[in-house]
Amino acid sequence: MKRILSGIQPSGALHIGNYFGMMKKMIAYQDTSDLFAFIANYHAMTSVHDGEELAKHTFETAATFLALGIDPEKTTFWVQSDVAEVQELTWALSTITPMGLLERCHSYKDKIAKGLAASHALFAYPVLMTADILLFQSDIVPVGRDQKQHLEVARDLAIKFNGSHGDTFTVPEAEIDDDVAIIPGTDGQKMSKSYNNAIDIFTTKKELKKSVMSIVTDARAIEEPKDPDTCNLFALYSLFVDGDNLEELRDRYLNHPLKYSDVKKELVALIWDYFEPQREKREHLLANPDEVYRILADGAKKARAAAAETIEKVRRATGIAYHV
Ligand code: ADP
Ligand code: TRP
Repeated sequence: MKRILSGIQPSGALHIGNYFGMMKKMIAYQDTSDLFAFIANYHAMTSVHDGEELAKHTFETAATFLALGIDPEKTTFWVQSDVAEVQELTWALSTITPMGLLERCHSYKDKIAKGLAASHALFAYPVLMTADILLFQSDIVPVGRDQKQHLEVARDLAIKFNGSHGDTFTVPEAEIDDDVAIIPGTDGQKMSKSYNNAIDIFTTKKELKKSVMSIVTDARAIEEPKDPDTCNLFALYSLFVDGDNLEELRDRYLNHPLKYSDVKKELVALIWDYFEPQREKREHLLANPDEVYRILADGAKKARAAAAETIEKVRRATGIAYHV
C-alpha cells in the first residue's frame, strides 16, 4: 500500500475551500492507502506569533479534522511537534540545501509581499516541509498547485542525500490534482482565510448567514435570465447538491424569475445540514479535550516509530551517531 502524507497548518478556522479542496480527499484516502496526516504547527509558527492562539488553533484543527472523518484506527494522525525528530532531520537536510534552491522558491517572496516579516524560518520553510515528507518515507504527497515547487525541493534533496550518503529516503511524488476546482470565496476570488472572503465550516448560524448573504452576485433583475456558469453563488451551491437538484437550480437560473437572496437562504440551510453530524462530533470533542489528546498521543507514538527508523539511518549516514 502506498504511503500518502499530507499536512495542514493550524493557522485559523477551516473553511469550505479547505474542506472541498483538501480535507475531503484526504479522508477518502484512508480506505485505499496508508495515510499519514498531521497538523503542521511548526509551520504555522512562521505566521502565528501568539502562543495562546497557536495552541488553540492546533487543538481545534485536530478536533475539526477528527470530526470531519479522520479515523485514527486507519490513519496515523498527529501533531507535528509531537515528533520533534523532524527538527533534527531539517538540520541534516539544511546542510545539503543550496541557498539558490531556496532563493528560487516563490512562496517566500509571495508571503513577504503579503506583509509577513522576512524571517529565516519563512525562508527555510521548504526544508522543514521536505523533512516532514522524507522522515516518513512518503510515496505520494497530494498538494495544491501552490505547493508544487516545495515538492520539487523535497525530491531534489532526497536524490542529493541518497547520492552522497547512500540510499536513505524514498523519493516522493507530488500528486497535483488539476481537477480539484479552486473554491471561490464570497467575493469570487479564491477562498482564503487571509482574504476575508471565507465561509467557515463550523461557525454559528448567524455568522454562516452573514457570510453567505455577502456572496457577491450580479445586478440582474428578478425576471431576467441568469448565468449559472459565471455565478459564484451557483458554484458554491453546487458543492452541496448533486445531479438532479443542481439541474433544477440551473433551470431556475435560466428560465424562471429568481431572487439571489432566496438561493442564499437555501444555501445556508444546505451548508448547515451538510455538516450537522460532524458539528455534533466536533462539539463533543471540544468539550472532551482528553479524548483528543489521547488520540493525538497514540498517533504521535505510531508516527515516532516510523520516524525512528529514518532518523537512525540519517545519524549513521551523516556521522552524528559517533559510537564505534
Ligand atoms: P488559506 O488560503 O485559507 O490560508 P491554506 O493555504 O492553509 O488555506 O490551505 C490549506 C489546504 O486547503 C491546501 O491543501 C489548499 O490547497 C486547500 N485550499 C485552501 N483554499 C482553497 C480553495 N479556495 N479551493 C481549494 N482548495 C483550497
Ligand atoms: N506547506 C503546506 C501548506 O501550507 C502544509 C504542509 C507542511 C505540508 N508540511 C507538509 C503539506 C508536508 C504536505 C506535506 O499547505
